[in-house]
Amino acid sequence: MKNSIYLDHAATSPIASEVIDVMARAMAEESGNASSIHTVGRSARKALDESRASLAAKLNAKPSEIIFTSGGTEADNMAIFGTAYARQKEGKHIITTAIEHHAVLHACEKLEKEGFTVTYLPVDQTGRIRAEQVKEALRDDTILVTIMYGNNEVGTIQPIAEIGAILKEHTATFHTDAVQAFGLEKMDVEALHVDLLSVSAHKINGPKGIGFLYAKTGVKLTNILYGGSQEKKRRAGTENVPAVIAFAKAAELAGQSSQQRMEQYYGFKNILIEQFQQANIDFHLNGHQTSVLPHVLNVTFPGTDVESFLINLDMAGVLVSSGSACTAGSIDPSHVLVAMYGQNAPELRSSIRFSFGLGLTDELVREAGKRTAEIVKRLTS
Ligand SMILES: Cc1ncc(COP(=O)(O)O)c(C=O)c1O
Repeated sequence: MKNSIYLDHAATSPIASEVIDVMARAMAEESGNASSIHTVGRSARKALDESRASLAAKLNAKPSEIIFTSGGTEADNMAIFGTAYARQKEGKHIITTAIEHHAVLHACEKLEKEGFTVTYLPVDQTGRIRAEQVKEALRDDTILVTIMYGNNEVGTIQPIAEIGAILKEHTATFHTDAVQAFGLEKMDVEALHVDLLSVSAHKINGPKGIGFLYAKTGVKLTNILYGGSQEKKRRAGTENVPAVIAFAKAAELAGQSSQQRMEQYYGFKNILIEQFQQANIDFHLNGHQTSVLPHVLNVTFPGTDVESFLINLDMAGVLVSSGSACTAGSIDPSHVLVAMYGQNAPELRSSIRFSFGLGLTDELVREAGKRTAEIVKRLTS
């Protein structure tokens, strides 16, 4: 098989070697439970607190506003169920969009079964909502607005700051799933006026199974896990100190390189587009073309069928996916593309997501573009 080129960094991105070093050392040296009051426990607590402060600073948040979780899914669930159950006496209406990650959508669907009402805002053909749509959907009983920062399948960025400004005039809690955007886009929770924000380490070259929910001081949240008093009684369970230390290291590295990586990833997009144009194959891009995450490029190749296309790409060493990781393993069409184009649109059968990250070079991306174009030619001839 040809050398593989990994272009699926939005699904997950490898751990940076510096992060592996830091995590290995932490696993050896910080063996304590951060809740223990003896020396070993206090050492773990100190390391945990330092990492918490470092991560909080990336968002202009306070350390006490960071609740560590097992990843983005738990952070989203904590935001949605936590708010719904804490505020259900004030109202039972929630606003979200049709293109959220399933960690948000399936949580909302569960709440509908429990008697909550959810408004799913439709998106335009670029996958974007207008802030005005939120304003129009707001009701007196709206307790939560949950809208993702950047979409994992097509990369479209939502007008979070504009929505935040609208919600200044309303009591609803505002949550954003920033799992794909954190580490690339500069984010300030004060400027965005968000109350809750989800982050996951494995998208930024940190370990899997660790993330956090930023929860603004005073925001009402009911616990979703019961047990010990960790995370100021907001999330029970012994903290994974080595993973948290590694997460902070990954965020530090991401912050230092964000500008340079953004430029590099826009360059990669252009390289792929050039390769497809030069090969004279039919294609079009999905998602917003300017309000977009730099590391995600979703492309439709008319006449291809996504399953055989993905298998052919894999055999040629081009590792991509058709959207969210779970959707890729099943025949369900992407709910994001359905929301953008409608139930029977050809895009649903013929779209591929390329996503960029650690270890890629112009040469590798060019080679991946060439191999992809060859396969498209073969499959559509
Ligand atoms: C936008 C978005 N939200 C949430 C998640 C879930 O994060 P995790 O894999 O850490 O549970 C993902 C991961 O694919 C994502 O892309």
